[in-house]
Amino acid sequence: MHPIKARRTHYSERGPVPQDVISTVDFELPPLAEGHVRVAVLAAPINPSDVLTLTGEYGILPPLPAVGGNEGVGRVIEAAADVTNLALGTVVLLPVGCGTWTTHLDLPAKHLVALPSGVDPVQLSMLTVNPPTALLMLTEFVDLQPGDWVIQNAANSAVGGYLVQLAKLRGINTINVVRRASAVDAVKASGAEHVVVDADDLPKRVHAVTGGAPIKLAIDCIGGVATENLARCLVEGGTLVNYGAMSGERCMISPRYFVFRDITLRGFWLSQWFKKATPAQRMAVFGEIAKLIAEGKLEARVQATYDLDHIKQAVQAAASGARDGKIVLEPNGPSRAAI
Ligand SMILES: NC(=O)c1ccc[n+]([C@@H]2O[C@H](COP(=O)([O-])OP(=O)(O)OC[C@H]3O[C@@H](n4cnc5c(N)ncnc54)[C@H](OP(=O)(O)O)[C@@H]3O)[C@@H](O)[C@H]2O)c1
Repeated sequence: MHPIKARRTHYSERGPVPQDVISTVDFELPPLAEGHVRVAVLAAPINPSDVLTLTGEYGILPPLPAVGGNEGVGRVIEAAADVTNLALGTVVLLPVGCGTWTTHLDLPAKHLVALPSGVDPVQLSMLTVNPPTALLMLTEFVDLQPGDWVIQNAANSAVGGYLVQLAKLRGINTINVVRRASAVDAVKASGAEHVVVDADDLPKRVHAVTGGAPIKLAIDCIGGVATENLARCLVEGGTLVNYGAMSGERCMISPRYFVFRDITLRGFWLSQWFKKATPAQRMAVFGEIAKLIAEGKLEARVQATYDLDHIKQAVQAAASGARDGKIVLEPNGPSRAAI
């Protein structure tokens, strides 16, 4: 058997230009330890949180030096003699935060979750972070019923696209706000009926769409004045959930919305949910999401895939605005060919 040529991304400092701090290096795989399997990584996305981890602005930062990447999927290519729960060839979900931008990982078999076979690894690789975020924001804050309305901004983001699809499956109507007209078609393609470009007269245009039906939940990915624009569309007593700061600005919202309109501003961070969720709650959320992805009912647009030799270009593309979908790494070459 030929020795495996293993490569991984690597960074030993953080800095303002994320692609400048990361590179790809060769490494040697050690002998496989007891209880472990060797996984060839099929696909791993570059999320905004990965970019912020490279620049040092994220909520949790791994010790340096580090391998990039937080989520992904891989295929079991070797197993220690004592491993009985995973067959060779099984596609597995990689544990969150294990440094997924690498060709190979040795991982304890008992911590790995087997995924359905025959499913696009690129779609599966984005399962852990964005779909549960969309699902939980839709279900944990306001008791929404079929026919109710939700408004969100950055609707062309991956989270936004998942939210459109999950809301539709529950019969919930979405108003989808984007910051540029060129993003409207992409959001419509993910199944959204109502897409509007953000501007000062947002409440008026939203009212024209809903016919004045109350909007109980608003979901903000951006911060800055975009937060207040959503608050202005909410019914009295409505809830505004912020989960991102894509503008880099603080949420700007006049006290009048808290005082006169009884709006509540909440935050959502999946890491906090993970800390508090019971194993049964996690199983319920990830079971639903994995099934929907396997059935082709939940997906994210992908702008481009890259191999590890082009990590700098990939990170630069992921850090750029006005993309038409995710940037995903395929460390062992085109992964769809492997299904
Ligand atoms: N709190 C949590 O638990 C949690 C979990 C998952 C994700 N997130 C956060 O959710 C956000 C979206 O993640 P994603 O993976 O779905 O993103 P994504 O697919 O990479 O999309 C990024 C979105 O941000 C918009 N954007 C980029 N720069 C912007 C700016 N300067 N001002 C306003 N909008 C801007 C983009 O609009 P254009 O296309 O017009 O550039 C696009 O809609 C990120 O902030 C991420 O960190 C949070």
